[in-house]
Amino acid sequence: MNGFASEDFDFSFLEEGFSARDIVEQKINEVSLSDDKDAFYVADLGDVVKKHLRWFKALPRVTPFYAVKCNDSKAVVKTLAILGAGFDCASKTEIQLVQSTGVAADRIIYANPCKQVSQIKYAASCGVEKMTFDSEVELMKVARNHPNAKLVLRIATDDSKAVCRLSVKFGATLKTSRVLLERAKELNVDIIGVSFHVGSGCTDPQTFVQAVSDARCVFDMGNELGFNMHLLDIGGGFPGSEDVKLKFEEVTSVINPALEKYFPVDSGVKIISEPGRYYVASAFTLAVNIIAKKVMITEHTGSDDEDDAANEKTLMYYVNDGVYGSFNCILYDHAHVKPVLQKKPKPDEKFYSSSIWGPTCDGLDRIVERFDLPDLQVGDWMLFENMGAYTVAASSTFNGFQRPSLHYVMSRPYWQLMQDISEHGIVPEVQDLNTIPVSCAWESGMELNSSTCSSASVNV
Ligand SMILES: Cc1ncc(COP(=O)(O)O)c(C=O)c1O
Repeated sequence: MNGFASEDFDFSFLEEGFSARDIVEQKINEVSLSDDKDAFYVADLGDVVKKHLRWFKALPRVTPFYAVKCNDSKAVVKTLAILGAGFDCASKTEIQLVQSTGVAADRIIYANPCKQVSQIKYAASCGVEKMTFDSEVELMKVARNHPNAKLVLRIATDDSKAVCRLSVKFGATLKTSRVLLERAKELNVDIIGVSFHVGSGCTDPQTFVQAVSDARCVFDMGNELGFNMHLLDIGGGFPGSEDVKLKFEEVTSVINPALEKYFPVDSGVKIISEPGRYYVASAFTLAVNIIAKKVMITEHTGSDDEDDAANEKTLMYYVNDGVYGSFNCILYDHAHVKPVLQKKPKPDEKFYSSSIWGPTCDGLDRIVERFDLPDLQVGDWMLFENMGAYTVAASSTFNGFQRPSLHYVMSRPYWQLMQDISEHGIVPEVQDLNTIPVSCAWESGMELNSSTCSSASVNV
């Protein structure tokens, strides 16, 4: 594994035939003889590139503006910056992070409807003009502090079927939208479009259809009032892994006809979106180590039988990351996580009802309430997959427990593809996302086992 390092982009190349999972194994082997078995992540940036290809295959009309809040790791932001994505920033710090990777201000939407005045001024000072709002007070703040702002009116959605509801906090009703548009006219503030968010972990794609139709109503109101309405922002809410009932393409197959009906291509409306979870969830695998264990025996009184069957054994495992760290997703993102055993259990191994706990002194710090596991030992590892969304971004060091280290990897074909996309500004159409094309740019110092490299493809 060779590394690639620049000031803000540090990852290792995955050699051909190796996967991110192999790197997890390698890291575990490296510390097998040591007591320093800290929790760590392996993040596959190639998976982020793959999601980008999948995005344009499924939603060709929609430009993604990655929601930085979901995972603000610099390597993720840098990868998406190279790929040409836009960014949804919610604060000055997120704007600074994105701009530090060389992203121009017009690729940023400041998508927080309630902003601190100093941060509105900051956005103005660095040229970020697109921003959302949903109230009269915000309109007045922007009118006073950002004369060049191009405002996007955030409307409420029926997010009752989403895992994390957002319209309880943000979004104007259709009736309020008219009042806000009229007020914007009086204040001479420029309104360019409409945004919404169906709620994170959306389970009903029809919510998108209703929201797109509502957005159309607000576009018509805005146009009537003389605004040049030309930006539709369909927010986030897309699934980020395959362990959910509703697949990404099932959602997009409902969205596309709605866009075609209410915002046909010839309407000239630019459509953007703010996916967070979609891009990062599946790229991150977390490895945690068992630091302590308790065996609990529940005695069944009244039974003469003294064997194991009568006395029920349950196990409590304590690992070195918890709900104050990466597993904050359990509290904030309503996540249900499942461990994957690093060591395969033997076919006849006995399983016990077990619970898994984080390292802090708080009883709230429980990761898994009940899961059947074999009799594991202190020093054994558990893996948690699909841990990229709303994990590292909100973790703390409560009780002095440090955040897991992050190790980024990418296969050379994905690295090359990323360079090609960056150079040509076009995302190639890939029929089968499990095979990715490799172009002649391999000549730039990277080996390719093909005499003519024009149409080689590499299985991943
Ligand atoms: C304004 C906004 N946009 C985008 C997102 C990202 O949502 P998701 O991760 O569901 O795609 C969020 C998440 O809270 C959000 O608040």
